[in-house]
Amino acid sequence: MNVSSDTQPAAAIRLLAISGSLRRASHSTAVLRHMATLLPADVQQRLFTLEEIPPYDGDLDGPQPPAAVAELKDAIAQADGLVICSPEYNYGMPGVLKNAIDWASRPAFASPLKGKPALVITASPGALGGVRAQGQIRDALAATLARPLSRPHVAIPLIASRFQDGQLSDATTLEMLQAALADLLAEIRLLAAARG
Ligand code: FNR
Repeated sequence: MNVSSDTQPAAAIRLLAISGSLRRASHSTAVLRHMATLLPADVQQRLFTLEEIPPYDGDLDGPQPPAAVAELKDAIAQADGLVICSPEYNYGMPGVLKNAIDWASRPAFASPLKGKPALVITASPGALGGVRAQGQIRDALAATLARPLSRPHVAIPLIASRFQDGQLSDATTLEMLQAALADLLAEIRLLAAARG
């Protein structure tokens, strides 16, 4: 099963967290896991890992895509918003993340991503925090008609130094993540109010 629950089951707002890294010791995934602990009581976050998503193949695309892809699309459809945290690979977004966005973006302009608010975070051991990947992730999401959050980019540089004893402990980073989460939840509530 790709989807794991990070918090309690019943919630008013459901977030889907997606990491751009498959590594077991991934800092990006660790950031997402920590963010689950920052949520208000009425918000639930599920983490979807991408290791079972096959390379995009138009011959396999359609109403019954591969099982892992169907699971991903279903998880996105059920979520009120996305939280993506990713490293940068060679000045861009990791292939596994682009591949997942490509699968999830079908059918074009009518996929589960359409209208979905998305908080995009990048994290890197380097000084730029993966900001070049962030631009690509936001562009790809915009191409799907998702709604990458319009706010200052959340790019975390020197990522390893933000952790102490395996815990995300850097106060500045935590403040930045709290503010970004608050913006995402505000956007989700605004959209829900507009829908009536
Ligand atoms: C990297 N890394 C990297 N970092 C960066 O800031 N800019 C870059 O262009 C690249 N390029 C790059 C390419 C490849 C193939 C790898 C494997 C790595 C370093 C990368 O940010 C680092 O490995 C992160 O720690 C990976 O994130 P996770 O797995 O800890 O989430």
